[in-house]
Amino acid sequence: MASGEMSVASAVAIAGAIPAPDTRKGASLSIVVPTYNEVSNVRLLAERINEALTGLSFEIVFVDDDSTDGTRDELFRLAGSNPAIRVIQRIGRRGLATAVIEGILSTTSDYVVVIDADLQHDETIIPDMVAALRSGDHDLVVGSRYVMGGGIGEWSAGRARVSSVATQIAKLAISTDLSDPMSGFFGITRTAFDAAVRNLSGQGYKILVDICASSPTTLRVKEVPYVFKNRVHGDSKLDSLVIWEYLLLIADKFVGHIVPVRFLSFIAIGSLGVLVHMAILSALIGLTDTRFWLSQAVAASGAMVFNFFMNNILTYRDQRIRGLLPLMKGLASFIAVCSIGALANVGIADYLFSDFRYGWISAGLAGILVGAVWNYATTSVLTWRSR
Ligand code: GDD
Ligand code: MN
Repeated sequence: MASGEMSVASAVAIAGAIPAPDTRKGASLSIVVPTYNEVSNVRLLAERINEALTGLSFEIVFVDDDSTDGTRDELFRLAGSNPAIRVIQRIGRRGLATAVIEGILSTTSDYVVVIDADLQHDETIIPDMVAALRSGDHDLVVGSRYVMGGGIGEWSAGRARVSSVATQIAKLAISTDLSDPMSGFFGITRTAFDAAVRNLSGQGYKILVDICASSPTTLRVKEVPYVFKNRVHGDSKLDSLVIWEYLLLIADKFVGHIVPVRFLSFIAIGSLGVLVHMAILSALIGLTDTRFWLSQAVAASGAMVFNFFMNNILTYRDQRIRGLLPLMKGLASFIAVCSIGALANVGIADYLFSDFRYGWISAGLAGILVGAVWNYATTSVLTWRSR
């Protein structure tokens, strides 16, 4: 159509008037900082980075998961007075790895450095990290506590041991030779990140292991030593459950393309639920005067309550339901869904057993599988739907 051609032509003319976008114009280095309740640290960190990087062009992107201590307001004040500082606020979600991934995705520079907000990492080694990336000889530079000149500061023996076991486990999943794969302090080239990004799990806290395991080629790594400092303001967000999340990440790297690790976690907790059920049942059976069906019903309810809370803590850590009322609502929907799941379980098993003459074992297991898939799929939407 003539009018269509006209508008295309004029669009081309207008486009011609706009200078071609210069992708080099922005900062050549982006620094991504995940924050959760770091109100007393972020300004100091920005100042120290400024000092450490004088002469370099860079931007800082903070990714805050809706902190409750006023971090966001402090970040807005910082960003308001400095155009090189940006803030991403995420609501209803938690997770260090996804915060880092989304922070990096919001940048366009050729090099990205990820650093904690709490001043435990040593920002003065950033220029060395960037120089290593710029040389073209390295895709990844890692601030390492375990190479000559590095250190873990005043860590308890227990924490040091856990960290060293986790490091050994990482070696199963990644080919990159890293002394400190648990590090949250590293720099990466845009090219290397882009090549890995679609394979990332985003599970838990260990983003560096995730990147190395997701990269299609073995990354060329340089390690730069630094000494891990003690936290002065605020508290660590990492609790004992990071170990569980870490194991899920490793499991995801091995079987994630076949079955979602969340489902595996759901099944594992469901199996524990069976034990809880039998324990309650045996206790009630022992009591005289209790009818069997009643004992079985109480045991089943107990198991469902157990499963709900365990899944809330372990399977849906990043979308955990908090607060009395939301928990009660979540529990109610979980019990409703699982009751239907139990009916489906019995129905399918009975159908296979009676009409198709399946053995009781295969009929029973098929019923369990159908019920479990139903429970998992439905509660993931109804009970833990991410906002
Ligand atoms: N956006 C966001 N969301 N940030 C988070 C979250 C979250 O759910 N959890 C923690 N952070 C931020 C913190 O605010 C901090 O800036 C950084 O991530 C690290 O959290 P810490 O709570 O200080 O972790 P840590 O000091 O115990 O662990 C450090 O050492 C580990 C190595 O043992 C971190 O550097 C880890 O990345 C590192 O793996
Ligand atoms: Mn820390």
